[in-house]
Amino acid sequence: MHRFRAASQSAERDVLNVTDGVHTKVTFLYGLTRSEIVSSRIDHNGPFCYKRYSQMISRVQQIQEVPAARRLERVRYAIRDLAVLADELARQGKQILPLNIGDPLSFDFQTPPHLIEAVIRALQEGRNGYAPSPGTPAALEAVRREAERKGIRNVQTVFITAGVSEAVDVCLTALVNPGETVLAPSPEYPLYSAVLAKLGVEPTCYPLVESKGWQPDLDDLESRISDSTRAIVVISPNNPTGAVYSRPTLERIAELARRRNLVIISDEIYDKLILGDEPHISIAALAPDVPVLTLGGLSKAYLVPGWRVGWGILSGEAAAVKAYGEGVHKLLRARLSASFPFQEAIPAALDGPQDHLTEVRRKLRSRRDLTIAWCRRTPRLTCVPPQGAFYAFPRIEIQEEDEQFAKGLLLEKQVLVVHGGGFGQMPGSRHFRMVFLADEAALERAFRSISDFIQARYG
Ligand SMILES: Cc1ncc(COP(=O)(O)O)c(C=O)c1O
Repeated sequence: MHRFRAASQSAERDVLNVTDGVHTKVTFLYGLTRSEIVSSRIDHNGPFCYKRYSQMISRVQQIQEVPAARRLERVRYAIRDLAVLADELARQGKQILPLNIGDPLSFDFQTPPHLIEAVIRALQEGRNGYAPSPGTPAALEAVRREAERKGIRNVQTVFITAGVSEAVDVCLTALVNPGETVLAPSPEYPLYSAVLAKLGVEPTCYPLVESKGWQPDLDDLESRISDSTRAIVVISPNNPTGAVYSRPTLERIAELARRRNLVIISDEIYDKLILGDEPHISIAALAPDVPVLTLGGLSKAYLVPGWRVGWGILSGEAAAVKAYGEGVHKLLRARLSASFPFQEAIPAALDGPQDHLTEVRRKLRSRRDLTIAWCRRTPRLTCVPPQGAFYAFPRIEIQEEDEQFAKGLLLEKQVLVVHGGGFGQMPGSRHFRMVFLADEAALERAFRSISDFIQARYG
């Protein structure tokens, strides 16, 4: 028995044949795999095992497949999809340089200790039950103070969520009916179209224009607004481009929303990671009369993406946003609450020392500059310098699809980036997104690998 097992460690224990959603599953006796039996037949005194082969099949089952809902066909999350291939390579002993996921904790960034202390205190003091559905009073007060610092007036309600991700889900679910639509930027952060797909809503994209520093073309955006449009999504600083929307751009979007009676969903998760000279501006601060949902969270600037802490701030005229705000709270009650102990870090984060941010921005600026300098000196690459967040979105002049580029780079150089197509980038344009969170030495290694790969593959 032992010998058989050694023959093939990795082969499947059961064999599956699939036809039209019906799986035929063949299970072998003794937990052996088919190849163990076959190889034993060849390697070890074959005739005995050969005769017993059919007897070693313990049962044949017909299994009806459980299909996933059709609405999932439009759900993509390329940021993690390529990581499956990377995991396989890592299992084969290859060392992967992961420049695909925006998690500072995977690099040389550490959670500020006073946030950890706040959570430990909450745990030790027994705040381990369900929290109030909108959030704890202390967390909500801290978010209101933050809104004030951001210049947001006319705040009608605030609430705490499991990351900005849950806030996006709740805000869109409470707003949009099938047949209606939401204008979201392209290249996109794929969570928005994933949530809309779940709601049976077809997203409408408004392009961010590379030649304009990835700012939106506002005439084009306006031309895409129809009677079924309910909201405009603003992501500034932007993922994946690193663009920060200028004040005139924000003012014009606010004006469009005012005129066409639209809600603005403003994802400001990177608001404290500004790398350029332009300050961050909250669109809600420019337009207190327009319904705006400003979304923020601790994941990025406060270096705790695993804690899943975010919030929403709904501002605008009270009468205009009352029903929408109630809809949001109805959904928040249905999902009970965000994590009790972790939201206790919100007051510590927003009202406590901000010293770590100076160091975070210093590192990011230096790494952004290195990345841009490398793009400038590398044939076939161009890149709009990111003004915020920690993503660069270089364009590559190549013939094949950018997905082939990213796969090839991973297989040959073990550098993991995300292809532009994964962000719904327009067909025919080739880009990739890389995070520049890695330290200078790791980045230089990545640059060398990517340059060598480009040179060898495309000349
Ligand atoms: C633009 C944008 N919004 C939202 C999120 C999700 O944030 P959270 O960790 O708060 O769910 C991300 C994460 O990368 C993001 O880039």
